[in-house]
Amino acid sequence: MRKPVIAGNWKMYKLVADAVATALALKPLVANANHCEVLIAPPFTAIKTVADRLEGSNVRVAGQDCSTESEHGAHTGEVAADMLRDAGASYVIVGHSERRQLYSETDTFVNRKARVGLAAGLTVILCIGETLEQREGGIAERVVSRQLTGGLRDLTASDLDRIIIAYEPIWAIGTGLTATPEQAQEMHAFVRRVFAERHSEPSAGRLRILYGGSVKPDNITGLMKQTDVDGALVGGASLEAETFAQIVNYNR
Ligand code: 13P
Repeated sequence: MRKPVIAGNWKMYKLVADAVATALALKPLVANANHCEVLIAPPFTAIKTVADRLEGSNVRVAGQDCSTESEHGAHTGEVAADMLRDAGASYVIVGHSERRQLYSETDTFVNRKARVGLAAGLTVILCIGETLEQREGGIAERVVSRQLTGGLRDLTASDLDRIIIAYEPIWAIGTGLTATPEQAQEMHAFVRRVFAERHSEPSAGRLRILYGGSVKPDNITGLMKQTDVDGALVGGASLEAETFAQIVNYNR
């Protein structure tokens, strides 16, 4: 019922030639992956070329971020959501923990990005997740719940069907420490419960919740077996086509 999503976040890696080479290598390796949506998020500079080269394939393209502003104007350095769409992206990631931690993005800011992304016709991947201190301090659920409700504020019921949540515990990102499948399941079930309370049971039932944080070919299957894990947002292991394809083609 919920179609899984396996997404690769390339972060600030890859010049255009490398991005295209990786995308073209990936294309045939995942051509039969009808069980899930496959997407990659190249850096802004490579989106257009990668999207053009992937046209007609089952690999979709995402932006890693977008501006809070929807009107084109004097916002040096910003990329508007409709520019992403124009370049060939159909998804956008907002609220990644690296944006929150390194660039001080707040829930209000992330919420604006989600809204402009949706208004531009993109599917929005909203990232949430706690730090190690927050988990050890017993406030992980409180933090995640605040990020979820703050990030989704003022969205309409139809908007919610174009929202994907990525739960990425910060302590598991790029550290090689993955949440256990049970830890992921526990938080995903909590997220779905909060979503159901705030919105509705049917939309919570349709919500895809991805796990992110050191996802690799050898741990994807255990994660995907969990009832509330509907896919993965993969960083490091998505940079290489063969490794990422192994994750996409996990054992089902
Ligand atoms: P890693 O898979 O490298 O831990 O990164 C996860 C991530 O931040 C994806 O957005």
